Amino acid sequence: MRIEKVVVETDDRDIKTFSLSFVNKEDEANFNYIPGQFAELSVFGKGEAPFGMASSPTQLECLEFTVSKVGVVTTALHNMQVGGMVGIRGPLGNGYPLEALKGKNIVMIGGGFGFSTLRALTNFVLDETNRHSFGDITIIYGARRPGLLLYKDDLEKWRNEADLHLHLTVDYGDEEWTGRVGFVPQITREVAPSSENAYALICGPPAMIKFTLPVVNELGFPLERTLLSLEMKMKCGIGMCGRCNIGSKYVCRDGPVFSCTEILGFISEQL
Ligand SMILES: Cc1cc2nc3c(=O)[nH]c(=O)nc-3n(C[C@H](O)[C@H](O)[C@H](O)COP(=O)(O)OP(=O)(O)OC[C@H]3O[C@@H](n4cnc5c(N)ncnc54)[C@H](O)[C@@H]3O)c2cc1C
Ligand code: FES
Repeated sequence: MRIEKVVVETDDRDIKTFSLSFVNKEDEANFNYIPGQFAELSVFGKGEAPFGMASSPTQLECLEFTVSKVGVVTTALHNMQVGGMVGIRGPLGNGYPLEALKGKNIVMIGGGFGFSTLRALTNFVLDETNRHSFGDITIIYGARRPGLLLYKDDLEKWRNEADLHLHLTVDYGDEEWTGRVGFVPQITREVAPSSENAYALICGPPAMIKFTLPVVNELGFPLERTLLSLEMKMKCGIGMCGRCNIGSKYVCRDGPVFSCTEILGFISEQL
């Protein structure tokens, strides 16, 4: 794929969103994905790594990936420019259960780059061809500080959407920040989204998931309607190498989206 655009998302420049286009039109036609799935991106000569699709499949021009710079592959990607070429393997994993979510209110709780697949789902649901199939959307999204919030254009747009309730929070504010200050679990408790006819989708760093789960449980979301998107270290991405298992499940093949019912008993070891 060819890098068409690079957006620096955060003020520390450590998270960038890459828009990629297929060189081969046949590959493009075959790459059918749903929000919550991921792909392995490869930087030639460096290696490959898994990233969730940050774009919605309703957005046809490009695939987007939001990449946090942490090591070999991600640093190499960050050093690439528009026009550079990368490899892609995917789509992989299960994605969010769109059929089950139809007719339901969706409460999305996210932090860090984990928010990328929730962003994909939000834009998917907001697309005019899909909006009537889903209920209200509530988003609780947190970052350590205002300069680390991703997708600022989307957040601005979403504020004006009917039936979308956006709650942003930061752990530490600055002189310009007038929004909420507090950790995601605490803000989830304050916002107290209704669990009636609703699913809770949680995606973010392990500590955020660990402390948000009991809150979501207190709010009355049953385990089968509490979905987690998990990240594990992966290699093959297709259930072959045994690198990413939780109990009998492979995160790459059976996940990365699981209901709490599916992984009850294993989850406390992971968080
Ligand atoms: C399903 C899935 C979806 C993901 N989506 C995204 C995404 O949208 N954006 C994004 O920036 N990252 C995402 N990640 C994490 C990303 O794959 C890793 O950050 C990446 O593999 C690091 O590669 P590297 O070569 O740069 O780092 P390495 O040089 O391999 O390692 C650098 C550091 O990162 C740690 N690390 C490596 N892999 C992981 C991992 N999977 N989770 C936590 N720490 C890790 C290593 O222990 C080491 O400390 C996802 C991971 C999975 C499994
Ligand atoms: S990454 Fe190989 S089995 Fe999941």
